[in-house]
Amino acid sequence: MGDQQPGEYGFEDASLRAMGGEAGLRQLVDHFYDLMAELPEAANVLVMHPDVPLARDKLAAFLTGWLGGPKRYSERWGTIRIPAAHAHLPIGQAEHDVWLACMDGAVDRMPVAADFKAYFKREIRVPAARVLATSACPKS
Ligand code: HEM
Repeated sequence: MGDQQPGEYGFEDASLRAMGGEAGLRQLVDHFYDLMAELPEAANVLVMHPDVPLARDKLAAFLTGWLGGPKRYSERWGTIRIPAAHAHLPIGQAEHDVWLACMDGAVDRMPVAADFKAYFKREIRVPAARVLATSACPKS
């Protein structure tokens, strides 16, 4: 982010506003973890979470800043680097894919603009790929 023009997603807090602000983002994260609990193929990712309510709060806080809003994660928990925060987890291609499937499904449940849905789904793949590349899971 950084080279966007005014009016484009990615400029200042345009993305957070497109998501419906912090309340909308919280809804997205709730859909995300609800889907993770609903989908049988996501069970192995869900069990990696020692505290799902805390994970909901942390993901919503992180994404608020990531979408250009206030840095809610660092306000409460300090500095974070997303790949390093996952390096202890056994995340392979399957876990990466199911995490994104839950995120795509959560986005689809949101009453937000279609072009923003496409933008968000594309952008979230960037840090997800870094998590996969950094994870402790042996790659085949
Ligand atoms: C690629 C697939 C991913 C999987 C399977 C995954 C899974 C997990 C799990 C199991 C935890 C809980 C870890 C623990 O408490 O020990 C976690 C934490 C977290 N995840 Fe992910 N994650 C993925 C990608 C992402 C991405 C792309 C982001 C952000 C864009 C993200 C943001 C976070 C945050 C902010 C936390 C809290 C970290 C902390 O405070 O320690 N995750 N994730």
